[in-house]
Amino acid sequence: MHIPTKKLLTMILLATFLVVPFQNCGNQFVLREENGLHLMSKGCDAEIFSIFENGFYPFLRQNCSKCHIDGGGGTGFFASPSVIEAWKYFYSDVSKIARNAVNDEHNPPYTGSKHQAVINQLLSSWNKAYQTKKECEIASNPNLDPLQRPFKLVDKQITAMPNSNTFTRISWSLYDEAARDDQKNLVPVTFDIEYRVVTPANQPTRLEFQNPRITVHAGEVELTDLRLLLNGMVLTDVTRYTQIKATFNSATPTPFTPAPNLTFALTPNLTVPFSLAVEFGRVRPNFSSITPPPQPGMPNTPTPQPSLPMRVTYNDLMGNNPALNVFRASCVSCHNQNRADGRLNLEDFARTQLLANTILSRMRNFANPMPRGGLLPADRVNLVQIWVQNGAPRD
Ligand code: HEC
Ligand code: HEC
Repeated sequence: MHIPTKKLLTMILLATFLVVPFQNCGNQFVLREENGLHLMSKGCDAEIFSIFENGFYPFLRQNCSKCHIDGGGGTGFFASPSVIEAWKYFYSDVSKIARNAVNDEHNPPYTGSKHQAVINQLLSSWNKAYQTKKECEIASNPNLDPLQRPFKLVDKQITAMPNSNTFTRISWSLYDEAARDDQKNLVPVTFDIEYRVVTPANQPTRLEFQNPRITVHAGEVELTDLRLLLNGMVLTDVTRYTQIKATFNSATPTPFTPAPNLTFALTPNLTVPFSLAVEFGRVRPNFSSITPPPQPGMPNTPTPQPSLPMRVTYNDLMGNNPALNVFRASCVSCHNQNRADGRLNLEDFARTQLLANTILSRMRNFANPMPRGGLLPADRVNLVQIWVQNGAPRD
């Protein structure tokens, strides 16, 4: 085909004209957004981001963009024309945004109960995607300390509709009833909470909770962010317990919240059987003060506690005195010249001294103990602590 030169020139000019301004005008922004989108559409965020982009985001753009954009006056730019900016605001505040969306008092007609059905549906997909994201993150990071992860307890089936006048108490052992296998047998704590199901006149059915409590059977534990789950999904409107961080050490049931008041979630179509579960954001046990239970076959009599020396040396820990030789008795079988598990050879003083803090921390780490079979009694660990405090001397 023959194209006249003049026509070709016009075509090229036109093309340049079209392309150049397109590349220059606002390209910074488009590129940034594309990078962000690219990141979001990969990895563990892909599904949850797509729920936002194709579900919540169009809803928020339509109903909230009058105010919830830069310069619009509303708190949080979750309706921003930039989906990435909107996502950042949205992700950190999902429950609050969902609650305001159905709030008849916030800014009707933009907000109100007419949105309830849509929001319920969006939240339900959101919760599923959130679980998937968490599982994906865990799967892609298998070496994470199990106690660095959220701590979920098993689902408990409720087969008969609970009494609406009185509360029923339900409890979980964090020791035996962790949902994840690698979080079992780590935290000697019991959690319990009261619940009931009520349907006030002309109002939807609600699941009410009150009086969550913690019982610590050994040592102490720091707990953060309690979430309640119905049928495997987080009840996002129960936020009373979610911003809590507290340390517990009492062997008698202690309130989890400063004010153990009632809190509830609207659950209009609740039918039996349903399941309840709880999840903590973090569980951090501290066992430095406990001694493990006696080994099977050992006489169950308390051994008298020898008084601790003021000074402990590497030669003591590696020597022949059974009152002091913690390394020799409990570690050297795996950490020696010929077999240096974890590349730690305790027969090499310089190396051992260098790793003194790591050694002590592994000897206190209930979740990742050394020796691997379980922590040594506190008085043995204390000898190593004194050695470290002395500056890890050779003799
Ligand atoms: C006509 C303006 C306007 C519209 C429309 C509007 N908001 Fe707001 N919103 C505000 C203002 C102003 C504030 C800050 C003052 C306040 O908290 O009420 C706010 C605050 C909020 C907050 C923060 C509340 C807090 O306690 O921090 C949320 C969440 C929220 N709005 C959600 C929404 C959602 C979701 C929509 C759309 C479905 C929406 N708003 C529509 C004006 C608006
Ligand atoms: C039955 C074998 C065994 C015994 C006994 C044992 N360890 Fe270990 N240790 C290992 C193995 C395997 C690793 C590597 C895997 C790991 O880190 O869990 C390791 C890793 C370590 C590490 C991590 C080294 C590093 O550089 O991160 C330290 C520290 C440690 N052990 C200290 C001790 C101490 C102290 C004792 C005695 C109180 C002890 N181990 C007893 C097998 C053992």
